[in-house]
Amino acid sequence: SNYEYIQVSEPRPGVGQVTLNRPKALNALCTPLINELNRALAEFQSSPTVRAIVLTGSEKAFAAGADIKEMAPLTFSKAYTSSFIESWSTLTTSVKKPIIAAVSGHALGGGCELALMTDIIYCTASANFGQPEIKLGTIPGAGGSQRLTRAVGKAKAMELILTGRSFSGDEAERWGVAARSFPTYEALMEAALKTAETIAGYSKVAVMAAKEVVNKSQDLPLRDGVEYERRVFHSLFGSRDQKIGMKAFAEKKKAEWSDE
Ligand code: HXC
Repeated sequence: SNYEYIQVSEPRPGVGQVTLNRPKALNALCTPLINELNRALAEFQSSPTVRAIVLTGSEKAFAAGADIKEMAPLTFSKAYTSSFIESWSTLTTSVKKPIIAAVSGHALGGGCELALMTDIIYCTASANFGQPEIKLGTIPGAGGSQRLTRAVGKAKAMELILTGRSFSGDEAERWGVAARSFPTYEALMEAALKTAETIAGYSKVAVMAAKEVVNKSQDLPLRDGVEYERRVFHSLFGSRDQKIGMKAFAEKKKAEWSDE
């Protein structure tokens, strides 16, 4: 497929990569870009070879937000009737394979929100995260007020969203927004691809179930979440890979997954 605003590759065995590529606008997320992103992710989701996905931008910008120039003339009625922004979160429901965001440079507004929709955030220590919408007379609209608050707690989220101040990749790691931060862009990309490759080496069935249950923790009360987890855990005794994995352990061999 040919894309205008993104690049798509399979840089490692089992790993699909989407690179946001609208450099002149610091990867501002215009509607056509989001449409391409959703199309690429849908292809990776149905790909027989891709088992984990890396989503990244450039060294300078993961994404500097929703496209302000596109939003400027919108009216309430147009935004409402076109469900503006709703399609951004397609990836949170239709992509079951793990997505790692590799964030360098700016991840502002919708860019920060897009990163928060992924499963694992890796970043450079100097990455520039933030929800600056308040400075534009608006508020986060792609889940930032909810996902950032769950990630850092109400005290910090409220301060960040009301002031619009940025936070660094180093802070993102310390606050638990990012899983890890790295001193350089090269180290970030290497680690993101390596982690994706590691995940791609596990049973497809188990990986999908693991992602599903961790994500449930964000939506369910604790008791329901623990019950949900147990149900899914029990169901994995019905998978062939669970037998393969435990037998391989007992025989001190490497598991050869069947994806069944
Ligand atoms: C459209 C953008 C853009 C954006 C940058 N550009 N961010 N265009 N929408 N969000 C464009 C600039 O207009 C400029 O185009 C080019 O990219 C380079 O940007 P500069 O500002 O010249 O670069 P620099 O001085 O390095 O500053 C980088 C920056 C700044 C700090 C990231 O660009 C900035 O503050 N951008 C806006 C960040 C922001 O407010 N994001 C939240 C958007 S609201 P030209 O043509 O002039 O060269 C949002 C709402 C989400 O995301 C809610 C629903 C999803």
